[in-house]
Amino acid sequence: MQQAAEILKSGGLVAFPTETVYGLGARGLDPVAVARIFEAKGRPSHNPLILHINNFTDARPLWRCASREDEAALLRAESLAREFWPGPLTLVHYKSEIVPDITTGGNARVALRAPSHPVARDLIQYVGEPLAAPSANASGRVSPTSAAHVLESLNHKIDAVLDGGICEFGLESTVVDVTHAAPVILRAGALPESEILRIFPNLQIHGVSSTVSPAASPGNIGRHYAPRIGEIVLLHQDEMARAWESGDALLARQSTADYYHSRLGARGGVSEFLPDEPAAFAREIYAAFYRLERAAPERLFIEFPPDESGWRAVRDRLRRAAEKED
Ligand code: TXA
Ligand code: MG
Repeated sequence: MQQAAEILKSGGLVAFPTETVYGLGARGLDPVAVARIFEAKGRPSHNPLILHINNFTDARPLWRCASREDEAALLRAESLAREFWPGPLTLVHYKSEIVPDITTGGNARVALRAPSHPVARDLIQYVGEPLAAPSANASGRVSPTSAAHVLESLNHKIDAVLDGGICEFGLESTVVDVTHAAPVILRAGALPESEILRIFPNLQIHGVSSTVSPAASPGNIGRHYAPRIGEIVLLHQDEMARAWESGDALLARQSTADYYHSRLGARGGVSEFLPDEPAAFAREIYAAFYRLERAAPERLFIEFPPDESGWRAVRDRLRRAAEKED
């Protein structure tokens, strides 16, 4: 831990565990250190990074407070932070002058999150300043939920990785823009929208009930979170028998597997069966993607979970995984 903190303090890159996915950390207010993150990941310079702090008090000076509107936005941020920090929630508001443009990809707003993982918290504490940390994967690859995943795409490109085992949630944080009176979910994630609705019944969901332009969260568009597999096809449950019999790779929920096992018998070919409950499914999905990449099937059929709010984040990631590359 001390070594990792020293590396970061001298401008280096350290991957570390959080409760969502592994992050690739650097001093977040140091433009030179931040530039190394973009370089190591091969990340487009317009895609903003999340700054990680330990509490709302440390978040305050990173956000602008220059008007009544800003004060109102900060109150909204505070009410969410009080409820969900530390935890898998990222809050977006206009940045103050101390946040460099490179960190936000030229965006006037900055995303902040207080992680709950004890290793992440200790690291932030040791370094004593905000850590910029995108997911610790090469741009376009699957987010890592173990230290081994980090090394699959970033070995030799970073200075160290702290191994904290498997991530608890396994899916990125929920990103919420608080600059509107009705806050907007920009990215569905590990914190369920039902939780946020308790605090803000007027919550909007980007792409579902909000009119915010797509550019509001640049990392939110196009193919993303995608395993390197030739073709990925999303199927509804009633189409699964076809996939079961095809011999192509398959990713489905355990209950479906049991059903088809009993009706159609054992299955040849690569298959991954994940838990039926959304949070448990989410915890294992990226590890399944990494295994499937290694098996390198030509075609992967994925059973698309039902259109229910509890599955929103998982459905979002599966949809992106299946999106054709430009
Ligand atoms: O759970 C997480 O959020 C993980 C861990 C490491 O904290 N981090 C993560 O970072 O997923 P990244 O960079 O892979 O994804 C950040 C997302 C992107 O979709 C990005 O566009 C959005 O947050 N974002 C970051 N800053 C933003 C901003 N200023 N305005 C709007 N969206 C922003
Ligand atoms: Mg990412």
